[in-house]
Amino acid sequence: MLRETDAKARGLADLPEVQSDSLLQLIALCNADPRPEKIDVGVGVFRDAQGRTPILPVVKDAERILLETQESKSYLGSAGDKRFAGLIRPILLGEHADDDRIAGVQTPGGCGALRLGFELIATANPHARVLLGLPTWPNHPPIIRAIGLHIVEYPYYERDTGRIAFDAMVASLNEARAGDVVLLHGCCHNPTGADLSDDQWAEVTGIIRERGLLPFVDIAYQGFGRGLDEDARGLRGILAACDEVIVAQSCDKNFSVYRDRVGSLFVKTGSAGATARAMAHVFQRAREMWSMPPDHGAAAVRLVLDTPELRQRWPGELAAMRDRINSVRARIASADPRLAYIARQFGMFSMLPLSREQVLKLRSDHAIYMADSGRFNVVGLGDDQIDRFTAAVVEALDA
Ligand code: LMR
Repeated sequence: MLRETDAKARGLADLPEVQSDSLLQLIALCNADPRPEKIDVGVGVFRDAQGRTPILPVVKDAERILLETQESKSYLGSAGDKRFAGLIRPILLGEHADDDRIAGVQTPGGCGALRLGFELIATANPHARVLLGLPTWPNHPPIIRAIGLHIVEYPYYERDTGRIAFDAMVASLNEARAGDVVLLHGCCHNPTGADLSDDQWAEVTGIIRERGLLPFVDIAYQGFGRGLDEDARGLRGILAACDEVIVAQSCDKNFSVYRDRVGSLFVKTGSAGATARAMAHVFQRAREMWSMPPDHGAAAVRLVLDTPELRQRWPGELAAMRDRINSVRARIASADPRLAYIARQFGMFSMLPLSREQVLKLRSDHAIYMADSGRFNVVGLGDDQIDRFTAAVVEALDA
């Protein structure tokens, strides 16, 4: 029987205001701006020279095959498309692909993989602390806090020099306690584009191993920096050195299937048996959150990777996106010595040393939409927008 209490009923109307996600808010603000010359370098989507985000031809071809051959949309289960995860394995894990201590599962995008990975960590240790280098993707802290894990911040990047604050990072990691989680960006650091060098990866990996920390690698842009294998080198070094590793992977960018939400979570433990036990928890957590991941995008990616002709074409289409990113970087960097660092960074994002006020002024005076932090999507610019963008940024830097 229900028992009455005199506690004041709290209804939905009592909910407090919520600070909406800054990147999603930026999309809405930019869409609402009627100025035809507006420049959208906010949220991270690839654009070609004409400013479009096309569907990759290999994905289009895979979708055609899917349309003709898919016979059922019946449930696949919490693991989603197992063949998809199996085909991602060698691309992501390289020489570790055959390691039976590593298991993978399809997730709704990289974001779903992050959430699921942190759910697994919290299941194992609800008191785990997560070491987070700042700045980071604005959605990292909310995901970690939503699970009730504790965040310990350390500085990762110096905005004024455009360099990684490596000494501070090393000093912070050296203070970590055994069992602490270290969240690392596999490549194309979001929001700074400043990636660890091979030597820096080796040093960080050594500290993680020595201190018994748990590395969690978020790799959402594999192939957008230097190449598929090059971008995974840091991750693979971690896999070689550590018994326990968690990896959140995304195909949203490197297959350009953003809204289809395609990603995977990989878990490594010290033995195949322990990994199987961990994966049983992963499936349970997935079942509680989304029951099973959406199928279409993962099925299309699976078909690209499983069809020899498409598999052969995909790296070329990916390289074309990477080449455009790097050519836009070079053009911006050559505009002013203060922007030269942009050519040394990787992936879609870099950060401008602008105050929030300067960013808002670029928005009001020039219809340029970038994140309040000064992060901008390098490849959000169509070719005909680059000069106007750099001129406005240089003007802001001079002011
Ligand atoms: C970004 O950082 O712009 C992308 O990862 C998109 C997102 O979901 O925030």
